[in-house]
Amino acid sequence: MRSVIDIKDLSKEEIAELVSISEDIISNPQKYAHKCDGKKLATLFFEPSTRTRLSFEAAMYELGGNVLSMSDSASSSASKGESVADTAKVISCYADIIAMRHPKEGAPMVASMNSTVPVINAGDGGHNHPTQTLTDLLTIHREKGRFDNLTVGLCGDLKFGRTVHSLISALTRYEGIKFVLISPEELKVPSYVKNTIKENGLEYKQTTDLMSVLPELDILYMTRVQRERFFNEEDYLRLKDSYVLTPEKLESAKIDLSIMHPLPRVNEISVAVDNDPRACYFRQALNGKYIRMALILKLLEVE
Ligand code: NCD
Repeated sequence: MRSVIDIKDLSKEEIAELVSISEDIISNPQKYAHKCDGKKLATLFFEPSTRTRLSFEAAMYELGGNVLSMSDSASSSASKGESVADTAKVISCYADIIAMRHPKEGAPMVASMNSTVPVINAGDGGHNHPTQTLTDLLTIHREKGRFDNLTVGLCGDLKFGRTVHSLISALTRYEGIKFVLISPEELKVPSYVKNTIKENGLEYKQTTDLMSVLPELDILYMTRVQRERFFNEEDYLRLKDSYVLTPEKLESAKIDLSIMHPLPRVNEISVAVDNDPRACYFRQALNGKYIRMALILKLLEVE
């Protein structure tokens, strides 16, 4: 029984395997339509979600499986004071695999220690989001054809953005990655994340100025300022529009830049950018379903 709480719970080889299974699913969906017949996925989301929850659910349905889902965490027993450990013990009696999102860092880890079925971390507070990273990696592979030798700009809320933390951690395992960390001073990447870059001997630079680095990027990963993790609304309002990507700004970017965003977008990418062929964020959202299908197959040990 295996859980995925951190992206590094999967080896580089396993990630390559998940990417290749996803690409096979994209080409031959009918081959996979009954792989999970009779299996149940429980989605336990204690924080808002659209893409992550629905892409997990769509993934399980497309594999022939079923889904158990709470309509609203406020109506679950957690609101009566049930612990994450107890919830995990109970849900293991009903489901074959669990996807959990929780506002507290570490909650999916606690669930995995108490569950008898695999637990997938679908986002824990401002910490990690490994399945978004799998989505991002599949997108990079499909858009760029490689993981090595890329200059990757991450822009926006690098402090609270859990997708950024997991993506940096995953990319430090590849050769020749250069990180360009673009954020306001107050929203810089936490030092534990920066240390992973240093420990792997990779190049990085930090800046507050997107325009000065845009021409050198192969990938630009935009993120929203994470309002729900701020201690006060004033700071959020001051920082929320620090970066707004527009077609005019993109004139100085590479012709084959890939613009990514985990979504939801608030204001950081103008809708006028959506028609630019370099905008991959909606393709990225679709990739999220395929890689979650691959991950469910792997954790359920389906051939
Ligand atoms: C991200 C998340 O929940 O961390 N969304 C997602 O899963 N696609 C990004 C965000 O909420 O900003």
